[in-house]
Amino acid sequence: MTILGIESSCDETSAAVLCDGVLCSNIISSQLFHTEFGGVVPELASRAHLRAIIPVITESLRDASLGIENIDVVAATQGPGLIGSLLVGLNAAKAIAFSRDIPFIPVHHIEAHLFSAFLHERHPPFPYLGLVVSGGHTLLVVVHGVGRYRLLGSTIDDAAGEAFDKVAKMMGLGFPGGPVIDMRAARGNPSAISFARPLMDSGDYRFSFSGLKTSVLYYLRGHATDGVLQIGEKEIDDVCAGFQQAIVDVLVRKSMLAAEEFGLQHIAVAGGVSANTGLSTALRIAAAERGLEVYIPDIIFSTDNAAMVAKLAEMKGLSAAVPDLCAPAFARLSDTLFDENS
Ligand code: KG4
Ligand code: ZN
Repeated sequence: MTILGIESSCDETSAAVLCDGVLCSNIISSQLFHTEFGGVVPELASRAHLRAIIPVITESLRDASLGIENIDVVAATQGPGLIGSLLVGLNAAKAIAFSRDIPFIPVHHIEAHLFSAFLHERHPPFPYLGLVVSGGHTLLVVVHGVGRYRLLGSTIDDAAGEAFDKVAKMMGLGFPGGPVIDMRAARGNPSAISFARPLMDSGDYRFSFSGLKTSVLYYLRGHATDGVLQIGEKEIDDVCAGFQQAIVDVLVRKSMLAAEEFGLQHIAVAGGVSANTGLSTALRIAAAERGLEVYIPDIIFSTDNAAMVAKLAEMKGLSAAVPDLCAPAFARLSDTLFDENS
């Protein structure tokens, strides 16, 4: 079965082809112009998707040496995400399904992230603990199988990636903030400045990163005159290192707690923040100390990509296809995906 996956939930236009379980192409076009605005501008993102969607699909087919007539199934991200952006990919997928009379499988963005580990040969067995850390979401989920999840907790305010982006913006480091903070943190001293670690010892699986962001803001305000930062490059590296360490400590603490409480040996991390080198190192050390296995996807599969969309569609199977093509887009995390009792 040959599946065309399409993803356009935020600022990446992506199309991928999965042929009998083998990934034949995964084209990702990033909207770099958002950098100048310090964040994704939804209206501009939708327009950029409109320009990019057909060239990206065409390139993914070319890369896979296939024509549109070779596609058996088409899948696209339905949500959560920016509605205008989602509509572009969703409608492109529906148009292909309608004109070719092939099945269309709508895919949940967070669910796709949860299964991104399966794009690698080494992937976790069920059940496993899923830690999703992206620009819009931070959550811990027990994954019992496809469609069988138990949500343990999520963020009550900012997502981890959002905190990286906002803190980078405060220091004029550009957008997205994660990669640059990651790079500068590697040069800084994580113990030089201690920032707040909200809810770290709450004993549950709720996250909160807004207070951490505020504690960085206060530190920077205390080192600014007339709004101009008075600290040098070395101190900026230390702020990055201290901030990143705070996020990493919280994520690792809660992941280890969940693995222990629910007796899970395998932890799969997903979403853009899983590319963070401080997080991956700390998670691997903490897991090794407890005899646990950690799975972190390659960076092209951790940030938004269509390969994970095609993969989840394959794992869900044709029963997930919507016959009438009436799948709506949705902006927020749907409550229906996670059943507290499963
Ligand atoms: O999963 P993703 O591509 O998009 C969403 O679904 O949100 O995640 C994007 C987020 C951004 O906030 C970005 O700053 C963050 O992932 N990110 C990182 C790193 N690379 C990307 N955060 C920390 N360290 C990184 N190396
Ligand atoms: Zn994402």
